[in-house]
Amino acid sequence: MDHASSCGHDATHGRRRFLAAASALALAPLLASDRSSAAAVREFYLTLRPARVRLAPEPYPVTPAWAYNGTVPGPEIRVRQGERVRVAVENLLAEETTVHWHGVRTPNAMDGVPHLTQAPIAARGGRFVYEFDVPDAGTFWYHPHQRSHEQVGRGLYGAFIVEERDPIAVDRDVTWVLDDWRLTAEARIREDFGDFMDVRHGGRIGNTVTVNGRVPHAFPVRSGERIRLRLINAANARIFGLESPGHRALVVTLDGQPVEPHEPEGGRVVLGPGMRADLALDLAGQPGERFAIHDTFYRRHAYRLIEVAYAKSEPLRPERLGAPVRLPDNPLSEPDLKLAGRRTLTFEGGIMGMMRGGMMGGGMIAGRMGRGLAWSVNGVSESGHAPKPAFVLERGKSYILALANGTAWHHPIHLHGHAFRVISRNGQPTRRREWLDTVLLAPDERAEIAFVADNPGDWMIHCHILEHAAGGMMAVLRVA
Ligand code: C2O
Ligand code: CU
Repeated sequence: MDHASSCGHDATHGRRRFLAAASALALAPLLASDRSSAAAVREFYLTLRPARVRLAPEPYPVTPAWAYNGTVPGPEIRVRQGERVRVAVENLLAEETTVHWHGVRTPNAMDGVPHLTQAPIAARGGRFVYEFDVPDAGTFWYHPHQRSHEQVGRGLYGAFIVEERDPIAVDRDVTWVLDDWRLTAEARIREDFGDFMDVRHGGRIGNTVTVNGRVPHAFPVRSGERIRLRLINAANARIFGLESPGHRALVVTLDGQPVEPHEPEGGRVVLGPGMRADLALDLAGQPGERFAIHDTFYRRHAYRLIEVAYAKSEPLRPERLGAPVRLPDNPLSEPDLKLAGRRTLTFEGGIMGMMRGGMMGGGMIAGRMGRGLAWSVNGVSESGHAPKPAFVLERGKSYILALANGTAWHHPIHLHGHAFRVISRNGQPTRRREWLDTVLLAPDERAEIAFVADNPGDWMIHCHILEHAAGGMMAVLRVA
């Protein structure tokens, strides 16, 4: 028996055993608790394994990657607000993993942070069943939280869409998961994960951008259509700034949370790693026209992401639709700013930080760098996943966290288990006081975020540039 068929044989057996185990597990929670409402449980299976995927068009070869269920992105998990979700995960990789449900307010034990909220799912056949209710509608995503700079970087991520009970009327609901890869000329993933140059600078910026796992070419549309376009930035480090002159796009949600529909600031939709935006896109062009969408975030490295290609057929409707309705708010607790406790998190480090001097003690820098750590939160560079909490927050109380970026780099700062309002930037109140779970801080920027600490447990707060997190830019908040 050759190597390939023996692998296939093992996988089939593992799969069968797993299905048997999963169905046994599936019964247990229903028997153990009397959920009298007996809400439907939506079941999903995710198997992690190496897979060959077509990222780049022919004549490039396929790319060996790591994938959920053999595809990049993994399957889109799509449920309805208020449903209960059960996801049975089987890990066929040669290393441990976990699954984190980015932006979904799960109970702490389902948050998927290794050593902090669960034991890692063992390599070569380990299993774990995640089960939780989804309180919020919106656009979320899932990805590993174990060595995520490499696991996400090799293709492990997928969309997690929670539909409103009463969604806005659109002709099509489309998800674009954006990613950025560092590929060789043979379309293989460069193996330099965790490269210390990347860690100290802007993270692992690649050379190949994909939309839903393919280098995009044209996006076919019809004149007169309205599309709800859900954008998810699953890249390790690349920040996207999407511009499309010639289109009317209104932002209707940010990080899954509804906002007053508005045109993107400066005509650009900016998404740091981990962030999402839903757009209501009115395709007002004429049949046969084409418009490009450019990514201009790094001004000197702007490029054309994709072309919007109008079909030659008649417009879908004679007149364009009216303004899209505002989506109903999710059931988030409103923070009480008068009674809120105040805490400060200061982010420091990076190559420019050292050049500025005085940011970190000289001796400390040498010690941290020796351990591959380049970044700190309140003076501490975390390397493990079960650090001591930076703060203990009182359950049910409101807090304002003052975030200060003391570095020359952008950082998308992500808080687990909660959504927060961004109430100020550089001392100025924000216009929309948007709810987010990941806030992008520009170099030297300060932002205040406010939320009710209503989800008990130990929660990560970290930079979502995955090399920065690996390089020490993470902390834990305990809600007790
Ligand atoms: Cu999307 Cu702690 O991560
Ligand atoms: Cu960062």
